[in-house]
Amino acid sequence: MPTTNRQWFLAHRPTGLITPDVLQLTESPIPSISEGQALAKVKYLSIDPTMRVWMADFPQYMPPVQIGEVMRAFGLAEIIESRHPNFKKGDKVSGLTGLQEYVVLTGEEKRSFQKLPSMPFLSDTNFLNLLGINGLTAYFGLLEVGKPQSGETLVVSAAAGATGSIVGQLGKIHGCRVVGIAGTDEKCKWIKDDLGFDAAINYKHADWKSQLAAATPKGVDIDFENVGGEIMQAVLDRMNLHGRVVLCGLISGYTKHDPGLASFGQIIIKRLRVEGFLIMDYVLKFMDAGQKLGMWKMTGKLKDRQTIVKGLEKAPEAINMLFRGENIGKLIVEL
Ligand SMILES: NC(=O)c1ccc[n+]([C@@H]2O[C@H](COP(=O)([O-])OP(=O)(O)OC[C@H]3O[C@@H](n4cnc5c(N)ncnc54)[C@H](OP(=O)(O)O)[C@@H]3O)[C@@H](O)[C@H]2O)c1
Repeated sequence: MPTTNRQWFLAHRPTGLITPDVLQLTESPIPSISEGQALAKVKYLSIDPTMRVWMADFPQYMPPVQIGEVMRAFGLAEIIESRHPNFKKGDKVSGLTGLQEYVVLTGEEKRSFQKLPSMPFLSDTNFLNLLGINGLTAYFGLLEVGKPQSGETLVVSAAAGATGSIVGQLGKIHGCRVVGIAGTDEKCKWIKDDLGFDAAINYKHADWKSQLAAATPKGVDIDFENVGGEIMQAVLDRMNLHGRVVLCGLISGYTKHDPGLASFGQIIIKRLRVEGFLIMDYVLKFMDAGQKLGMWKMTGKLKDRQTIVKGLEKAPEAINMLFRGENIGKLIVEL
């Protein structure tokens, strides 16, 4: 039985990408647990763009991570010792594990950890992807905010990422013409050939805006926005009257502390409805959505994919990979 817990602490706030001084890896003894607590060993860490937001000190939807705190992260862990009535050895849980090898679940935290069901057609990593934050974000963002109608045109940015790849497939399930925007030809091929998007556009090609126009001959009814900046601007320029902009994320601005907002003129001209949302607002409906996503996965209507990086020590560089577009599907660190 190992005795030390390796943990990444926030040492300095980043100004751009994460440099070696931002997070500090330390070792401390694995804590012993008391009555009402359980000890879990982290198996997988979910690497999310919002981690870069949590490192910055500005008002946000959760308190920023403080200097000297273990870096916040979602993860999947297995209970190895329990004095907690709700958890037994061998149970798998997901929740805010932090960027570390072992986490103590206390009574107060029990609501932030979900015990995972065992389903033969689902792997552990599915619970951080399709059945985790990204699948749920895609589901509620598209279905409850975007409200797709059959025959409408949906454009999704960061389309080969964890959230975007599921958004596009849900759009197809709901009868939309789906156009994805992504940063490499390999990503475009995957979303078109394997996931069934109607068109895929590599925004690094010089003529990508004319490709977007050609791929959206009837304009755009729903923009599922993951990126912001120039990409959002180009999609706004193609919006139809009374279109909907689902503001899910603005990743192009996260390392610059710039929201990356495109010109708002089109919002007035086209009478668009622009709605930001956060997945935590839908927590009471997670169970129902999870069943539907699981069913679509089981029947082959939804596919998910992971990019796995091995080793806790690689976690800071893994976060940077998101901002360099080096992941396809969900980025996960395996411990
Ligand atoms: N509202 C919510 O509750 C919620 C929940 C989860 C996630 N989100 C947001 O959803 C978005 C996607 O998150 P995710 O976890 O699914 O990540 P992801 O899409 O798996 O990974 C991020 C992708 O964004 C693209 N990207 C990064 N910087 C870019 C830039 N400057 N310009 C264009 N594309 C860029 C990269 O792909 P390319 O190769 O295509 O550039 C990268 O692979 C993020 O904005 C995130 O903050 C929101």
